[in-house]
Amino acid sequence: MNESAYHEPVLVREVLDHLITTDSGVYVDATLGGGGHAEAVLGRLGPKGRLFGLDRDAEAVSFSRSRLASYGSRAVLSQGEFASLDSAAASAGFSGADGILFDLGVSSRQLDSAGRGFSYRMDGPLDLRMDDRLPVTAAEIVNSLPERELADLIFRYGEERNSRRIARCIVRRRGRMRIGTTAELAETVRRAGAGPFPEKTLSRVFQALRMKVNDEPGQLAAGLDSAERLLRPGGRLVVISYHSLEDRAVKRFIRGPESPAPRWAPAPPARFRVLTRRAVMPSTEECETNPRSRSARLRAAEKTSDGKI
Ligand SMILES: C[S@@+](CC[C@H](N)C(=O)[O-])C[C@H]1O[C@@H](n2cnc3c(N)ncnc32)[C@H](O)[C@@H]1O
Repeated sequence: MNESAYHEPVLVREVLDHLITTDSGVYVDATLGGGGHAEAVLGRLGPKGRLFGLDRDAEAVSFSRSRLASYGSRAVLSQGEFASLDSAAASAGFSGADGILFDLGVSSRQLDSAGRGFSYRMDGPLDLRMDDRLPVTAAEIVNSLPERELADLIFRYGEERNSRRIARCIVRRRGRMRIGTTAELAETVRRAGAGPFPEKTLSRVFQALRMKVNDEPGQLAAGLDSAERLLRPGGRLVVISYHSLEDRAVKRFIRGPESPAPRWAPAPPARFRVLTRRAVMPSTEECETNPRSRSARLRAAEKTSDGKI
């Protein structure tokens, strides 16, 4: 498979401009995917620059390993989850980083693999695990979660207003037969007749299930904390997110608590200097050539040296 068929990386120039401050530094790609961003980073670094790459998906690591083979020991890759990024980097011999990139969500390769169940557009088993060692599949959730919890999940993680009606239809259908495939779930959601844009509703339901199966909110919170520990003072954090829940969490993490309590107390020193007052979005040209980039939002920040800017 060629590289762009695996995944076309988004906002590449913007990532490099925000991430790299020294061409002999250590950079971390916490979401390797097809290795597109990783290759661009290595291409920008000098002969002493190194990269540590991580992905929880074994196929992504193996694909990137062959793609980046020509960089030899300057590219060290490992399978693992970014919630424990700092310990994974330490095990690979990296004690600090000058820049860390998170390109959240799923790769085109994952979406286009019918056998993994990420897309309602292709029929396949209702799985949705990024790492097949994860204990619970989407089918198990859909067939066992009580109706109310299912509705809450679709509402909270999918931001779908018709979550109750959809959950009721799912529970009614699974009472007759197990929902085991993406097509069976998609048909059930369509039959729920929820809203005027069935495709949007479907993608929200699948997003909610994917987030639950892979514990994406928990991974993101722990991953950002872990990245903060791994970053050297002056090191850069760059995060690309694809939906508002993620983008809000990233923005809150970088900016710190909204209002320091109590008001008379001195504000805690800033942990990060914000480099992107507004999220950076892809150009119209990029959206046209790579439609999957349309929802991308990039935020970047620099770790302060001693808590002060
Ligand atoms: C949008 S793709 C990254 C694409 C990549 N930047 C490229 O240029 O090809 C997101 C990747 O992050 C991985 N991923 C998502 N959550 C993860 C986590 N918690 N830990 C490690 N990898 C994760 C997915 O398996 C997927 O391969």
